[in-house]
Amino acid sequence: MKRRTTEQRERLDAHVFVCTTDRDSEYACCHDAGAEETLEAVKDWLRERNAFWSPIGVSTTGCLALCSEGGTAITIQPHNEWYSDVRPEDVPALLEREFGPEASRVDDEPPEDRE
Ligand code: FES
Repeated sequence: MKRRTTEQRERLDAHVFVCTTDRDSEYACCHDAGAEETLEAVKDWLRERNAFWSPIGVSTTGCLALCSEGGTAITIQPHNEWYSDVRPEDVPALLEREFGPEASRVDDEPPEDRE
């Protein structure tokens, strides 16, 4: 086992986790609500600002317990921000709110009043 916290802390200021859970069930899942398209929208927005993967990581994740037919669940850490019902067209406003228009606000704490 290697502890790699220091190098990851130096590379990453934030991490966007996009739920892509797919399940054969009567319950809603993010895959069926367009998670792959939303994931691509997140990556594209960050790539366009040269912020993809460093300093802002993106990973798929399992169920975040925010399942909805209306869209995908996303959490942004360490901001401890949580979203559900995210559609691809919501991504630019969501990421701008979190990171600023040029994805340069990665070191800042998110404002408390971001409802
Ligand atoms: S399936 Fe995505 S939050 Fe539950």
